[in-house]
Amino acid sequence: MKTLILNGKNRDDVAKAALILMGGGLCAMPTETVYGLAADALDEEAVKSIFEAKGRPQDNPLIVHIWSVKQLDKLWESVPEKALRLAEAFWPGPLTMVYKKSAAVPDAVTAGLDTVGVRMPSHEVARDLIMLAGTPLAAPSANLSGKPSPTRVSHVKEDLDGRINCILDGGSAGVGVESTVLDLTQDPPRILRPGAISEEMIAEVLGAAETDPAVTEGLKEGETPRSPGMKYRHYAPSCPVTLFTGAPDDTAKELMKADGKASALVFDEYLKEAKEHFKKVVSFGESNDHAEHTKRVFAALRELDGKGEIYVQAPRELGCEAAVTNRLKRAAGFSEKKCTEYTVVGVTGRSGSGKGFLSQALSEKLSLAYFDADAVYKKMLSENLDMKKAVSDAFPDCAENGEIDRVSLGAEVFRDPEKKKLLESLTHPFVKRAAESFIKENGGAVIDAPLLIESTIDRLCTVTVGVFCDDKISLERIIKRDGITEERALLRLSAQPDVSFYRGKCDIMINSDKGINADPLVKKLIKE
Ligand code: TXA
Ligand code: MG
Repeated sequence: MKTLILNGKNRDDVAKAALILMGGGLCAMPTETVYGLAADALDEEAVKSIFEAKGRPQDNPLIVHIWSVKQLDKLWESVPEKALRLAEAFWPGPLTMVYKKSAAVPDAVTAGLDTVGVRMPSHEVARDLIMLAGTPLAAPSANLSGKPSPTRVSHVKEDLDGRINCILDGGSAGVGVESTVLDLTQDPPRILRPGAISEEMIAEVLGAAETDPAVTEGLKEGETPRSPGMKYRHYAPSCPVTLFTGAPDDTAKELMKADGKASALVFDEYLKEAKEHFKKVVSFGESNDHAEHTKRVFAALRELDGKGEIYVQAPRELGCEAAVTNRLKRAAGFSEKKCTEYTVVGVTGRSGSGKGFLSQALSEKLSLAYFDADAVYKKMLSENLDMKKAVSDAFPDCAENGEIDRVSLGAEVFRDPEKKKLLESLTHPFVKRAAESFIKENGGAVIDAPLLIESTIDRLCTVTVGVFCDDKISLERIIKRDGITEERALLRLSAQPDVSFYRGKCDIMINSDKGINADPLVKKLIKE
């Protein structure tokens, strides 16, 4: 069969693809997560041909794609209220909801299960295609079964050229990993496959959500999976994959000791060193750039395939990295080298966010030593000779007889961002080294650091937490705690990054508007 390449930007081409689908054909379509291989979900024969083209095991059900919430009525036995709340919050977008199927859904779609997974993609081309085809579309990822999912047209071609009727080109997938699969027949609802919509985000809407243990640990011997997809070695290149897990600085150290004949997927901070060590290296983005990890993971696995053993510097596992680590664990068949022996929790956020409170609670409940980065910085500035020398050399006006005047130093850098940068570049390495020794001496730590990210101390952590709250609340907290005027408190806050900075870089975000409950986080960290 000749596979037609159609242009998603061209309305006539989208209509052509819709006609192919209406005639029972197969079309690879772009979605925001990964490319999907679509067929009319209500046409049993068409659905069966998806399994053939992909070489997909018959017992692995497909996800049905819709463009309007109204289509749920036809696909599900009934529409539960919590589904509507989730749809309101996350559709169109990367969330698949599994619920009891109606008689209209062919068994071929659900592989005989009495439930069906449905999602509404946000990619404009996918939505237009579903609308024009006039029917819900069943679509698994458009790869050969077992291979990494396709995030570009070239990946789809690599796997399915000649096996399907057409590919609708919609550019690179923005998210990069497949949707979150959530089972709504369970109470609380249960994540069967993590994706961009995290457990925390779902819990915020419904009050509670869980993640199936098979997601992080793999299936136990003889266990029946809740989602058939869980049992296959998945997303996998043909070469063996090993994950290096733990704090980024530790995984980097271990990687540089590993066999250089292998190829490696490495965070940008360590790229230069890795290039000198390994035969082939692909960049995974900065160690705390979650969005890049998700976007790059599948393309990277494809690129490294065929060149022998593949070593992967794995992102941390909790919170928004859950989806990426889940795919990597499956690609590696759960083969893993643990590089950090301890639990190191990094806590950060703006002034008055409540990070100190959370850090102390975590330190108590997890029996971990407490490292107060601000206090250590101040102490070192008056006691550490090397640090004092570095600072007084660079800021001679703020030093006398080798002693630093913290007030005049503060005033000088507050006025001039360049000077602030210079001071931080001098002092961060000292504080980071202090944190490193502290972790070793105490067998782990909770690190309370307003500049956790900027100081790169986050690279010593096995999990990072960002605390945030409404600006008005932090303002009140600062005024009360530090006894300063509103004007000074405002000035201090305006010099700090806003929430989106922490959201993009921390693994877990905690809202402290109504106070802080450390228990859910403690539970997760103990499970680790
Ligand atoms: O982002 C996505 O979800 C992409 C795009 C194309 O939409 N699709 C996708 O489909 O990833 P697929 O077939 O590669 O993965 C579907 C996963 C499988 O792990 C399957 O076992 C699970 O969803 N699944 C589907 N229906 C289910 C059901 N009724 N009960 C439990 N698990 C189900
Ligand atoms: Mg798939």
